[in-house]
Amino acid sequence: MAKKYYITTPIYYPSGNWHIGHCYTTVICDALSRFHKMKGEEVYFLTGTDEHGQKVEKEALKRGITPLEFIDPLVAELKDTWRMLDIDYDRFIRTTDEDHVKCVQHIYQKLYESGDIYKAEYEGYYCTPCEAFWTEGQLKEGKCPDCGREVTRQKEESYFFRLSKYAPRILKLYEDNPQFLQPTSRVNEMVNNFLKAGLTDLSVSRTTVKWGVPLPFDPKHTAYVWIDALSNYISALGYGTGHDEAYKKYWPAELHLVGKEIVRFHAIIWPAILMALGEPMPKQIYGHGWLLIGGEKLSKSKENARPELTDPHELVKRYGADAVRYYLLREIPFGSDGEYTTERFLLRINADLANDLGNLVSRTQAMIVQNFDGKVPPRGEAESADNELISMCGQLFERVDADMGALNAPDALSEIFNLVARANKYIDETAPWVLAKDPAQKARLGTVLYNLAEVCRLCAVALKPFLTVAPKKILKSFSCDEEAGFDTLKFGLLQEGAAVEKLPPVFPRFDVKKELAEVEKMVKKNTPSAPAGQLPLGGAPSGASTSCPPPASGGGVGVGVRPSTKSEITIDDFSKIELKIGEVIACEKVEKSDKLLHETVKIGDEVRSIVSGIAKFYTPEEMVGKRVVIVTNLKPVKLRGVLSEGMILCAEDEKGNLSLLSPEKLVESGANVR
Ligand code: MSP
Repeated sequence: MAKKYYITTPIYYPSGNWHIGHCYTTVICDALSRFHKMKGEEVYFLTGTDEHGQKVEKEALKRGITPLEFIDPLVAELKDTWRMLDIDYDRFIRTTDEDHVKCVQHIYQKLYESGDIYKAEYEGYYCTPCEAFWTEGQLKEGKCPDCGREVTRQKEESYFFRLSKYAPRILKLYEDNPQFLQPTSRVNEMVNNFLKAGLTDLSVSRTTVKWGVPLPFDPKHTAYVWIDALSNYISALGYGTGHDEAYKKYWPAELHLVGKEIVRFHAIIWPAILMALGEPMPKQIYGHGWLLIGGEKLSKSKENARPELTDPHELVKRYGADAVRYYLLREIPFGSDGEYTTERFLLRINADLANDLGNLVSRTQAMIVQNFDGKVPPRGEAESADNELISMCGQLFERVDADMGALNAPDALSEIFNLVARANKYIDETAPWVLAKDPAQKARLGTVLYNLAEVCRLCAVALKPFLTVAPKKILKSFSCDEEAGFDTLKFGLLQEGAAVEKLPPVFPRFDVKKELAEVEKMVKKNTPSAPAGQLPLGGAPSGASTSCPPPASGGGVGVGVRPSTKSEITIDDFSKIELKIGEVIACEKVEKSDKLLHETVKIGDEVRSIVSGIAKFYTPEEMVGKRVVIVTNLKPVKLRGVLSEGMILCAEDEKGNLSLLSPEKLVESGANVR
């Protein structure tokens, strides 16, 4: 029997002004869903909209229309975004769907009858944008601790869910199933911030909000939007509606992928509801990081989601669905935040898609057309120069599968592009243009081109879950089945003699400067006062002096010295220092220190722990995603008990302010600095 794979995105608030941050969860889920479908599994991929609640009620009232008149066009726009990005969901659920409403009422009725829901009076604070309740003690300076916005005081009759009763079972759930909540840092967050202190019962109904699901046992109350919303994961499968075949087949879900700010609803409230219903737990909740702009979450409410830069419709129209999908899947280290700039986006797609993959395909096809009349040449005998490439092809599926098993699309893509890079190197090593000049080398030329065509085919198949346009074009141009599954990921299946068509460039190469100038022009036209320097167009900040610091100890941040205060050194002295580019994939403050940050840095295939004295100049959130210069051969030391295996270089100004050194163009982590 085929394995079942049920995967969900959160359901989206119909707030409109969709930005690429919204697309992040859904594009990852789509890639995972396609990946598991290609493995032959029975996949159910759910997404949708979260339509009830005070926010919508207020917006509709403001416009003098009904909530549905307000929501419908926004839902249509979201569906259109998913269509443009080739999101292939199995159901788009709306919390206004009749079967969903029926399921929510069933859940409330069941919990009311079992005594898990009881009536009392709610007194506390409510954040409407987050649709979250808070006690006075939880507020931060009187504002919502999650989003920092105003809260309103509420006092009303309400039904409560006995959340407090489930705290010990939730803690045990985390303990017994380390995979249940990932990454592990989110477990610490839930335990330290919520569970340790004990849970209070949760107000789960409102009398002041009319736009919601009426409670079956007391219709003047409507359901709390989070209970309404979370129920979508089982209502979509027919739970509680009398038609629950899909529920029996697919539940428990393999994965609820959600943004980190809504982990607490998924990892505390949702398990408690399921426990109260006596239903099994989802297998995993993964709280991913955010797309940031200038170190802040890309968000409509923060007004940093400028449509000219971040509207998925605009981006897809300008650069294509494959480019947007690739950027989201490849650029942000999974589990961490990642800074978004137009420049990073363009550099990434130019480097990987247009240069590496695009060139490999076009060079291979051009040489086959020129030398073999547009037919796949005979494979011939492999030589030792071919072994590494062929063996990488043999390992491709296993490696990508392992990464995708860990939900790590960036690493899976990096495996595929390692093969692309190896094939480009193979072209340089075997120099087919030289072989082509010598008729005695025709068979060898055929073998080289066969191997290259095979790499193109294999990469195209492996890329199908991630990119939806180019892989099919590539497969078709080699006369291969566009619907090919992972069973075809074996070296040597390409048919000798099959027709090869020379494609026009599969990925256009964008002129970064020109694009940036055009985007800036568009922004300025729409907001003439826009300060160019603050737009998320460019990369690293510029203007700082860059003196190379002396390694004072095995860790910490390099502190700049004024020129000529040190004695002269030779190039041999300098060459003793190994400098590499690293990418910060996680960062936190070092406990009890106001100076030190603890970074986890990816340097090529290696991950290192580094402690730096830069906490006064960068927040941990700002550090994540940065590419920095690292002294990698310093003797490791422990700083405040934390291992430091290198030093991050900075420039220091007259006043002692530190500024990180970053490569001016997008450079892969692990690259040498010289
Ligand atoms: N309606 C709730 C979810 C209920 S699920 C039972 C909600 N909706 S949302 O529209 O605000 O967010 C939907 C998803 O988009 C969340 O996973 C959220 O984290 C994600 N993103 C919104 N902005 C984002 C970024 N800037 N970066 C990455 N993802 C972010 O929450």
